[in-house]
Parts: sequence; structure tokens; C-alpha cells
Amino acid sequence: MNYNKKTVKDVDVQGKKVLLRCDFNVPMAKDGSGVITDDKRIRAALPTIQYLLDQGAAVIACSHMGKPVATFESYKKKQLEKGKDEASITEEKWKKSLAELRMEPVAARLGELLGKSVILADDVVGPDAQAKAAALKPGEVLLLQNTRFEKGETKNDPALAKAMASMAEVYVSDAFGAVHRAHASTAGVADYLPAVSGFLIQKELDFIGGALANPKRPLVAILGGSKVSSKIGVINNLLEIADTIIIGGGMAYTFSAAQGGKVGNSLLEEDWKDYSLEMIQKAKDKGVKLLLPVDTVIADAFAPDANSQVVKAGEIPDGWEGLDIGPETVKLYCDAVADAGTVIWNGPMGVFEFEKFAAGTKAVAEALSKTSAITIIGGGDSAAAVQQLGYADKMTHISTGGGASLEFMEGKELPGVACLLDK
Ligand code: 3PG
Repeated sequence: MNYNKKTVKDVDVQGKKVLLRCDFNVPMAKDGSGVITDDKRIRAALPTIQYLLDQGAAVIACSHMGKPVATFESYKKKQLEKGKDEASITEEKWKKSLAELRMEPVAARLGELLGKSVILADDVVGPDAQAKAAALKPGEVLLLQNTRFEKGETKNDPALAKAMASMAEVYVSDAFGAVHRAHASTAGVADYLPAVSGFLIQKELDFIGGALANPKRPLVAILGGSKVSSKIGVINNLLEIADTIIIGGGMAYTFSAAQGGKVGNSLLEEDWKDYSLEMIQKAKDKGVKLLLPVDTVIADAFAPDANSQVVKAGEIPDGWEGLDIGPETVKLYCDAVADAGTVIWNGPMGVFEFEKFAAGTKAVAEALSKTSAITIIGGGDSAAAVQQLGYADKMTHISTGGGASLEFMEGKELPGVACLLDK
């Protein structure tokens, strides 16, 4: 994939209407109060928005929020699949679920951060959006309603893409978190407007793309998280690129079991044992150092206050489960990152949400904060861990994309990037 894309600096936006796709899919308080619990993604879009305003553009921002369910029938089906009692599933609850995904809180927060009021449309391409877009003046910001309220959005419907494009003269995408989606607002719209990237996408492409295409070596990849099955693509791709791959988190137990180790009640994906052995062999064939845990912190229950002890990897007694890497493994992994040129980290080393089992993840984060290597943290859990543990400002780059950064590291083409103009 070509990462060398035109940016906002390569187009003239003065006096023009710019359709700006952001990823404002921010976490909200579970009580339905509309309180944004983390506004990082809104802040991440500010440099591009401010630049466009300074250049004299009128900004029509848009984003998806959550996964709204279009009809009551499909809402009901989903709730039943989740095991909900039929009598408890009401039309009011479905409507409430939609109301909670409206963009009002985002418009308010964006306005506070920009220091100017943000006009909010009541629809995406309907009469309100059209009228407000037509009246929008340079220096003003309009935010459209949740793009996923339009059923054509996730189907990448050309009619919707065309209708969105018709409100603007230039398309800028800064929605890195959504570039792995081929949706109308993330990709389709680029068929109808000159399409360039904002500063956030450019930064993500420079850091992640740079680390994958031309890393400062040695390149060390730290892969954790619960499942081998969710990291297959990443392991496969990084085996072609990295000098060292470090495995931690729940997926390490599948590697251990595949080699004949005893894993007790630990997370185990039986179906992925053969694949784990293949990866071990592939690493040997390619001369990639593959590091697996040598010891494990085990618990007698999956609970924050469970009893714990340290055992050798592959020697977990029945009734116990591994919840973190052990101290010898911590030392091994921290030594491996100490002299790295680049470190890519995706997935925690253990159940860092429980203080008692956070030591492995914490030690790796600390080691990364001390190395002189370029440190790139994949979005999602690893970004949350680094933030929660207080090391965020010590990393070179923390990706704003969860699924997007994962697919990037898998070497997949990202539709929201591929659709932008090449330099
Ligand atoms: C994310 O939160 O990872 C992005 O906003 C993409 O959201 P999605 O998984 O609902 O497409």
C-alpha cells in the first residue's frame, strides 16, 4: 500500500467547503448522561480543524458513533441473541439506544475545545444538513449527525457518498480509527471529491507505516492480548519484518500448550495450537528471535483479589490460571527492548485491569519509557494500558486506532487510506 498521500497542505481550501471525516467515536458514560469519558479522539482532530479554519475553509465535520441498529426488529433480534428476556425488549429502549448515539455531546465538547460554537445538523444528508451546509461560511464548523444513522453508510452506498460529497468541494479524512472500514463517509465519498489526509492520518502513516516499511533496527514487536486468533495476521506479517517478537498476555498459553506445557485453567485456543507451532518454526526459519514467557503469575480465580503465586511456564497446576508474565519473563522482555531501534507494542502482557496482575504490563511500559528506541503503541488495550499506568507522554506515538492499527500492522490495505490521492 502506498502511504505517501496528499495532505491538507497540498490542496487549496481557502473559501471552500471541506467535508472532514473524523473519528469522534468516543466512549460515553454508561448511565446515558451523555458525558464523554475520554475526549482524546476529539482532541486528536483539532490540529486539522484549526488549520482548515485558519486557511479560510468552512468545515463540515462528520463521524460515526457506536453501532446504531436501524430497525426495532433487528434491535430485538440482537437483544435476544444476547440472551435478553423478550418482555424486557421495548421500542422505547431501542429509541433510547439511538438517542445515546447522537452527536450533541461531541458538538458541545468540540466547541469547547475550539473555543467557538459548532453548528449541529439534525441529519446526515437530509434537509437540515443540506441547508446548514449551504449557509456555512468560512471559519465556521458544522457537525453532521452520526453517519451510521444512514443505512447506506456501512454498505458504502454510492448514492449516500454522492449526497455527502455534494455539500462540499474537498474531502479531508482524519478518521484514522475508521480507515479500515470501506464505508460511504470513509472511502466512497473520495470517488466524488478531491480527497486528501489530515494531520492525524498523516502522523499515523508516518509512524506506523515508517516502522513497518523502513524501521530503525533492531525492530522488536511486543504482542499480547488474550487470543492468538485475533493476532494471527499481525504475527504473520511481523515475522517478515521484525528482528524479535515477544509474546505475552493470554495468547502465550496457547503457545505453551502447543509445546506440551500444562496451562491449567488459563485461556487456551485449542484450534490455534498447530498454528502456534507453525509460527515458532517460521520464526526459526527466518532467523527471527521469538520470545515466550519463561514464568507466569498464576491465580486461583479470575478476580482482582485471587490468591497468586509464580510458577514456571508450562507448569500451571489444575484449578489455577495464568494472569500475568512472571518476574524472570519481565527481565527477559525488558532486556530485549533496552537496545531496540524501534518497538511496536500491541496488547497487554496480563490482566492489567487487576492491580495484582498489572506488574508485567507495567514493567514493559516502564522499559519502553526508558529506551531510546522509537516506541509505537497500537490503539485499543495497549493504548489504554499505557495511559492508565501513566506512561503515555513517554511514548513516541500512541495510535488512535484500535482495529485500524491492528489491520495496518497486519499489512492489509486500508480502504480509507487507499482512496486518498497519491503524492
Ligand atoms: C474504533 O472505535 O475502533 C473506530 O471508531 C471504529 O469503530 P467500529 O469498529 O465501530 O467501526
